[in-house]
Amino acid sequence: MNKISITCLAFFSTTMAVIAAPLVDYKNPSLSAEVRTDDLLSRMTLTEKVGQMCQYVGIEHIKKSEKYLTLKEMQSGDAHGVYPNLHSSKMPDLIKKGEIGSFLHVVDPKEANQLQQYASESRLGIPLIIGIDAIHGNGLVNGSTIYPSPLTMASSWNLDLVRQSSVETALEMRATGSQWTFTPNIDIARDPRWGRVGETFGEDTFLVSEMGVAVIEGLQQGDFTGDKKVLANAKHFVAGGEPVNGLNIAPMDLSLRSLKQDHFPPFKRAVDAGVYSFMAAHNEVNGVPAHANRFLFTEVLREEWGFEGFVVSDWMDIERLNGLHRVAETQTEAVYQAVDAGLDMHMHGPNFLRPLIKLVEQGRITEARINAAVRPILLAKFRLGLFENAQVDASAASDILFNAKHKQTALELARQGIVLLKNDSLLPLPQGKKIFVTGPNANNHTMMGDWVFKQPKENITTVVEGLRAVAKPSTSIDYFDLGSQVKTLDPRQFAKAAKRAKAADVAIVVVGGNALRYDRKGKTAGENVARSTINLYGEQLALVQAVQASGTPTVVVLINSRPLAEPWLVENVDALIEAWEPGALGGQALAEIIFGEVNPSGKLPITIPRSVGHLQAIYNHKPSTYVRRYIDAPTKNLFEFGDGLSYTQFKYGKPTLSASRIAENESTRLSVTVKNSGDRAGDEIVQLYIRDNFSRVTRPVKELKGFKRIHLDAKQSQEVTFDITPDTLAYFDLDMNWRVEPGDFTIMVGSSSRKTDLKTVTLTVKP
Ligand code: BGC
Repeated sequence: MNKISITCLAFFSTTMAVIAAPLVDYKNPSLSAEVRTDDLLSRMTLTEKVGQMCQYVGIEHIKKSEKYLTLKEMQSGDAHGVYPNLHSSKMPDLIKKGEIGSFLHVVDPKEANQLQQYASESRLGIPLIIGIDAIHGNGLVNGSTIYPSPLTMASSWNLDLVRQSSVETALEMRATGSQWTFTPNIDIARDPRWGRVGETFGEDTFLVSEMGVAVIEGLQQGDFTGDKKVLANAKHFVAGGEPVNGLNIAPMDLSLRSLKQDHFPPFKRAVDAGVYSFMAAHNEVNGVPAHANRFLFTEVLREEWGFEGFVVSDWMDIERLNGLHRVAETQTEAVYQAVDAGLDMHMHGPNFLRPLIKLVEQGRITEARINAAVRPILLAKFRLGLFENAQVDASAASDILFNAKHKQTALELARQGIVLLKNDSLLPLPQGKKIFVTGPNANNHTMMGDWVFKQPKENITTVVEGLRAVAKPSTSIDYFDLGSQVKTLDPRQFAKAAKRAKAADVAIVVVGGNALRYDRKGKTAGENVARSTINLYGEQLALVQAVQASGTPTVVVLINSRPLAEPWLVENVDALIEAWEPGALGGQALAEIIFGEVNPSGKLPITIPRSVGHLQAIYNHKPSTYVRRYIDAPTKNLFEFGDGLSYTQFKYGKPTLSASRIAENESTRLSVTVKNSGDRAGDEIVQLYIRDNFSRVTRPVKELKGFKRIHLDAKQSQEVTFDITPDTLAYFDLDMNWRVEPGDFTIMVGSSSRKTDLKTVTLTVKP
């Protein structure tokens, strides 16, 4: 045989070999994700299946703890994410054995690639799904766009921008190796002592639901197929936002009625929007820890709502069934209760796989239950395209992270989310003035909020930097640096601050809180950082008082993550801005508002009470809540839900209904004309509330049922309409049936939840 025929033969036999060994179904990208999932599942051993239900923190995270913590420290708490008896060097083997299906806290794309490489070397080569807390941008990863915190987003009432920020977050995540974010946090925040208020969308069930859906739509964009989308996670199911004493993880005892009407709706809406994963809450709910709660995860979530995705536990909470709640005598029993309740994945670590295998071998958990848990996890990995390519090109990430488009979205959200609370004709400031600036949050990064690690300095615009950038040369900015910690101000400096303020035309004092995850000692808010008071921390009020006493008109800017009860501020300063945590470009947005380049338009998504003693302070309270008064303080809140000022004024006409008498199953349409009666353009958030005037079960004095953000030029008017459907009017009646009760409803429309801001019309539902 000559050389050519040998080559031909070799080519022929190789080709034949390829033809003879067709791809097994699960490896065949031309088949549907469902067919591939079933094929893969049929090839898996029990250990491999249970492996898919196991999530661990990243190897680098473990190594860091190994480096800085003693074994004793590692074993003393559960917050460090290490596994006392498992050294990081053992992890690659576990992945290759198929005993790990997921990771979290992987913040470097190179590490993500390495982990995926190990997974590809396992018997079936099943890729990992990597989860991360990308709560407002992928902030745990260096160089990401830090969008305003969820509470700030909610203050914008702008669903399109929130959705857009989620689309962009998904891109930034995929570029750096993660495909699953533990967001939206759709807890109803009803206690501002709780440290996590800033990562929620506030106190209102309707607003939280709308925001949650916008986030899910942006992240998943349908069924998240492809390499540009990620899985969302509805958390924490349920009721963690109202913990007893305001302390994270503390129990929640509440009526079935409150669960159904106040806490469930955002989660039900999330399921309807196709959210593919759920996370259980740390807390117990009416005596049964969420992690062992069959009612929540099987009866309600799957059987009633038809959820088809998978449920992950929260950080160490299956372990807590045994060690904290004491509903399980052993870890194996804890695993049994959690899986039996409906949990599908364990965050995090080694104390799950063996106990669960043992439970299946004993027949206490069926293999069918394991298959039901694993199927959606695998399906997600197929849809996300991980079987085709789990590696990311780390060098390409720099074009995506914090790019011009993403920065613009973050800036616009900050502009729209900042809330002007008080303005005695001081703002906007004209250029050409001498401005004195001070305060612990004036020149630091607290505006990034929680769930963020240190970011490049050049990516973050502090308030001082923003003011300097927006100020014209005729304006002078005199910044007095008092340090960047809200907890440790030195009062000996305050006289000097007052002196410099006196020499200026206007003083700006930037105070508030600190939720920065990486600033352990400086934090006053964030996960596990509750407060027993909710006023300004430490010496901050004294600083404001010293500056204000100088006689110079004073603007106070709050950068903080939860309602701050400080009546003195409201009564005494000339202007008050609640900036919440406006993200990477927050300083710029604030400066634009202060100098009037942007007209403020944010509205509060949460009530600001007068003091901690005034809690619970929610706008949708029951009729009898305030029939009696406190004898030692005004009963009124400092600010109401929906409050927020503009530099222009909006006037509401008389609302009308397309039909004012309808049957129980009919709808009507409300129309109202809103006019910008001032002399500059501005955005208004038109809010719709209802009250069921008489009902067999008491109803809140008002409930938000719709909102629209509109833009109006000076003197421009617009007709705004809202559809009032049976769902707008229905409630859980005496027998817990969801229905519309005949009778009169007061329909209210206006610029906040305050009675004085609302125009009303009566709707009758005929018997
Ligand atoms: C939090 C979750 C978070 C998880 C992973 C937990 O402590 O409660 O919200 O997703 O940690 O970081």
